[in-house]
Amino acid sequence: MSRPDPRLAVLISGRGSNMVSILDAIDAGQLPATAALVVSDKADAAGLSRAAERGVDTAVCARQPGQDAQAWAQRLTTLLEQADIQLVALAGFMRILPPAFCTRWHGALLNIHPSLLPRHKGLDTHQRALDAGDAEAGCSVHFVTAELDGGPVIAQARVAIAPGDDADRLAAKVLQREHVIYPQVLAWCASGRVRLEDTVVQCDGMKLSAPLEV
Ligand code: GRF
Repeated sequence: MSRPDPRLAVLISGRGSNMVSILDAIDAGQLPATAALVVSDKADAAGLSRAAERGVDTAVCARQPGQDAQAWAQRLTTLLEQADIQLVALAGFMRILPPAFCTRWHGALLNIHPSLLPRHKGLDTHQRALDAGDAEAGCSVHFVTAELDGGPVIAQARVAIAPGDDADRLAAKVLQREHVIYPQVLAWCASGRVRLEDTVVQCDGMKLSAPLEV
């Protein structure tokens, strides 16, 4: 029996270019999911109108001044549950999600991070890769756990750092790869090929011993 396509939510905070690449892959039949909802924590995120133009439902879940993280994240969970979401992709979502949210969505919550994790967790990844004299940079798609940028990595894409690269050039090169790797990994998750069991990534029913290279 074929499994139904999961209902996917994409969480953004800004321009949403990764979100667009995900919607493109769904429209092209390369990602077996339903684009059910795009949520931003910022009302003025440019990606919201890009999603609406594509006919995807959008919502804003801003953290109000003084509101605690738990209450905000619970509102986010309620929004996702009301839309019957089964898979959640963080795509440039710039808020830290509290542990209870990560537990609720364990195995169904993915993120793309612009570095070769575990190197350069957090912000300013490209400048830090340059400052460290790294020979290569890249991006990682991982399951999200309560540890910031620390969940099990599913796949990575690498780019060489060239002599003239500055942070902007490197970011642009890496972003091109992000637009390929994220829809690809989401397709594996949506189809059930990749799953998280406890804290172990399974691919085709076998424990993944190292991140897949895309
Ligand atoms: C991407 O580089 C992503 O890896 C990082 O934030 C950026 C978001 O870009 N987490 P966009 O909003 O998808 O264009």
